[in-house]
Amino acid sequence: MSAQESGFVHRFVPAENDSGVTLLVLHGTGGDENDLIPFGQELAPGAAILSPRGKVSEYGAPRFFRRLAEGVFDHEDLVFRTHELAEFIETSAQEYGLDPNKLIAAGYSNGANIAASLLLLHPGMLRAAVLFRSMVPFEPEVTPDLSGMPVFMASGKRDQIIAPDNTERLAEILSEAGAKVDLRWSNTGHGLTYEEVKEAKEWLSENGL
Ligand code: MLT
Repeated sequence: MSAQESGFVHRFVPAENDSGVTLLVLHGTGGDENDLIPFGQELAPGAAILSPRGKVSEYGAPRFFRRLAEGVFDHEDLVFRTHELAEFIETSAQEYGLDPNKLIAAGYSNGANIAASLLLLHPGMLRAAVLFRSMVPFEPEVTPDLSGMPVFMASGKRDQIIAPDNTERLAEILSEAGAKVDLRWSNTGHGLTYEEVKEAKEWLSENGL
């Protein structure tokens, strides 16, 4: 199966440097595969970028998995969609000749939540993750092994959609699994600020990524 046949509309931007890093960018609700390309280029200049569009449509707004209400996720669909995305990533890595050990997810909101779900269900798949405005995708029954995995989280204290406790809980789940979580709070809402993207960029280079 090719990346195209996987059913994920996507964009792939080849690397312009030899770092071997690929940024998997995952958009928020209502976004698409084009949205986060400039953001990815800002975050990791010259890295390859793989940007799929979520397959679920919520009244026409693309998402990576279904929700029953705001902040209430359809667990069965989330698990199914997470495995499906993992398969797309594997297929794309082969097809585009990507280093499977240097895949870094960078997601916003719904995209950050499926990235967190990928960490929990496919702990060996990503090298690191940058999660903007994320929350607990589900409480894992089995603690995954995320030993030493760098995870950057940036959240807004005044986020109307995500309660701070929920973000804190995700940071706790990931830390308990062994990840090196760096959770930053800004005095902002659900929207991303340039300052946070800059911080994430610095964090990536501090971690040798
Ligand atoms: C979600 O996954 O539903 C997010 O946390 C909220 C959103 O994407 O609007």
